[in-house]
Amino acid sequence: MSIFTINSFDQYKESYTCSVENPTLFWDQIAQHYTWFKPYTEVSRFSMEDADFSWFNGGETNITFNCLDRHLPELSDKTAIVFEPNDPSEPHQEITYGELAKRVAELANVLLKKGVGKGDRVCIYLPMIPELAISLLACARIGAIHSVVFAGFSAGALASRIDDCSCKMVITSDGGYRGNKTIDLKAIVDEALVQCPTVETVLVVERTKEQINMTEGRDFWLKNELSTVLSECPAESMQSEDPLFILYTSGSTGKPKGMMHSTGGYMVYVGYTFQNVFQYQPSDVFWCTADIGWITGHSYILYGPLLNGATTVLFEGIPSYPDFGRFWSVIEKYKVTQFYTAPTAIRSLAKEPLSWVEKHNLSSLKIIGSVGEPINDEAWQWYFENIGKSTCPIVDTWWQTETGGILISPIPGITKLKPTYATLPLPGIQPILMNAEKELIDKNETDGSLCIKFPWPSIARTIWGDHQRYKDTYFTAFPGYYFTGDGAWRDEDGYYRITGRVDDVIIVSGHNLGTAPIEDAINEHQFVAESAIVGFPHDIKGNALYGFVTLKDGIGDFDENQLKKEINQYVSDQIGPIAKLDKIQFTSGLPKTRSGKIMRRILRKIAEGDFSSFGDISTLLNPEIVDEIKNQAL
Ligand code: PRX
Repeated sequence: MSIFTINSFDQYKESYTCSVENPTLFWDQIAQHYTWFKPYTEVSRFSMEDADFSWFNGGETNITFNCLDRHLPELSDKTAIVFEPNDPSEPHQEITYGELAKRVAELANVLLKKGVGKGDRVCIYLPMIPELAISLLACARIGAIHSVVFAGFSAGALASRIDDCSCKMVITSDGGYRGNKTIDLKAIVDEALVQCPTVETVLVVERTKEQINMTEGRDFWLKNELSTVLSECPAESMQSEDPLFILYTSGSTGKPKGMMHSTGGYMVYVGYTFQNVFQYQPSDVFWCTADIGWITGHSYILYGPLLNGATTVLFEGIPSYPDFGRFWSVIEKYKVTQFYTAPTAIRSLAKEPLSWVEKHNLSSLKIIGSVGEPINDEAWQWYFENIGKSTCPIVDTWWQTETGGILISPIPGITKLKPTYATLPLPGIQPILMNAEKELIDKNETDGSLCIKFPWPSIARTIWGDHQRYKDTYFTAFPGYYFTGDGAWRDEDGYYRITGRVDDVIIVSGHNLGTAPIEDAINEHQFVAESAIVGFPHDIKGNALYGFVTLKDGIGDFDENQLKKEINQYVSDQIGPIAKLDKIQFTSGLPKTRSGKIMRRILRKIAEGDFSSFGDISTLLNPEIVDEIKNQAL
C-alpha cells in the first residue's frame, strides 16, 4: 500500500518514525507520487547553520504538469475550480480540469509574448477571481516566479513589494468587489507604478467594468491579448530548486520579507499534506476561505487541491455579505466536504444569531479546519458543535508562510483531538521547545520557544535578495534549529498548543502585522516624534492594535480626534486598512531602557488593562513615564 495516504494512527506513527529515522527513504517514497521529467539523484542536502536547503536535487518537473496535465484525460471533465462570486445573484462558474489547463496555457502564452520568461518576477494583484488562480499557474507553467500581493494592500505596500523583487510585469484588474464595496485596483497599481521602473507591462483583467486609465504601451486588456495566442503551452522543465514563488510576510523589523519557495520540495510537501490533513477523497468538494494573496491560499486553495485532482472553491466575497449566513449557504450550495477557515471568521460569525447557521444544510461537511492564529476554547467549541455538528473533526493546523505547508495538525478521524491544540507534528516534522537559556527542553508539560530541528521539503529557501536576513531571523536565535517566532505549550501527551508570537509580530484578524512598518508609517506624520505599537486582546480580531504616540514639541493646539484620524490614514496609505489602530494614546514619552530600547512588555500590559505589576523596571531611563501612561490609558 502506498504510504502517501495515512489511513490509521498506527500508519501515522510508522510514517513518522520512518521520517525521523530515515528521512531520505521517507521523502523519496512520497516524492515518487509525482511526475518528474527527469528523476532526482539526491533527496536532500542541507545546512541549518547556513540556512541552506535543497531537495530532490537533479530532478526536473513542473508543478502545473502535476496539477493539470497529470490528471488529464481522466479528470478533464471534472470540476477543478468552483468560482463563487461576491454577489450571490451573479452566476457561479465551474471550471473543469480540461478548461483550466487550456486557460493556463493561453495566459502562459500571453506572458511569453510580452517577454516574460523563466526566472522573471511577475506581481499578481487581483481579487479572488478565476484569473488569479490562472495567473499563478501560468507563471509556473513557463517558470516565471509569481509574487502575489494581497489586493487589500495599499499602493505604497504594493510598490515596495514590486520593487523588492524587481517585477517585470503586473497582472491586475480594473477593480474588485468586497461585500458592498468596489475597490479600484487599477488606480492603486497606477499609483504604485510611479515608483516601480522595472515594470514593463501591466495586464488588466476586466471585472468591475469601471472606468480606468490605460497607459499606452504599458497596459493591456487581458481579454484582447488572450484572443491572439494558442491554447497549448508546454510546461517548462524546472529544476527542483528553481524558485516557484515569492510571498511577502511582515517582519518584526524593517521591510517585509520576500519568502522564496522552490519548485520540487514545495510541490511534494503541499500535495502530501493536503491529502492527509484533509483526508481527501475523489468526490470531495474542498473550500478554504483564505485569500490566494496569503500562503494558505497558495498552498490549500490552489496547489494542494490541484495536485490531488480535487475540486476547490474560490470565493470572492466576505462572510457577512449579503448576510451572516453566506459561508453556510456556500457550503450548502456546493455540498462542501472540507471547510477550512480562520478563528477570526469563526469568532465574528459566532456572535451572530445561530439562526444564520440553522437555515442551512451543512450535512455534507466531514472535516472542518482552522488556521492563522490560536483558536480559543470558546470559538473551538462553537465551531465544533454548530458547524461540525459535534461529528466533524476540527483540524487546527499550525504553520507559516515560511514553512510552505502545514507542520502540526491532527489527522482527522485518526488523531485524538484536544480543543485548542494543534496536536502532533506531521511526518517529517520534528518540533522542539527551547527555554530562555537556549537549551532544549526534553520534558512534557512545559512551554517554550517553538523550533524545528530538521528541515522538510517546503521550508522557504531564502528571503529574496537577503540571505543574511533569512539566517539572522530564523537560524541564529537557537543555533542549529529553525526558530518559528512562536511560543508553544507541550502537554503530557506530547501535544502542542501554540500560545502565540514571541516577537513583535501581531496577528490581527489572521493577518501578520509587524510593528516596525506601522510605526514607520505613523512617524511620517509631521506632528509625530515617536511611536510604539502593541497588540491587545479583541473579541473578534483576536488582537487589535494600540499605538502609543509622542508628539513633537511646539505643535500648539490641535484636534486630537482629527490627528488620530490622520495617523490612521497614514497607516492605511502605507500598509493597508487592515493595519489601522483601534486605539491611539498620546503620551509625553515612551518607557525606554538605558540602551534606548522601548520596553514593550510594559506597554503591552497597559494596553491589556493589566496594571497589577510591571515587573522589574529598574533598567528604565524614565520610570516616571509608566505612571503617566497608565493613568491616561484608553
Ligand atoms: O503565530 C502563528 C500563527 O500564524 C503565524 C504564521 O502566519 P502566516 O505566515 O501569515 O501564515 C498563516 C497561515 C499559515 C504563525 O507563526 N498561526 C498559524 N496557524 C496557527 C497559528 N497560531 C496558532 N494556531 C494555528 N493553527
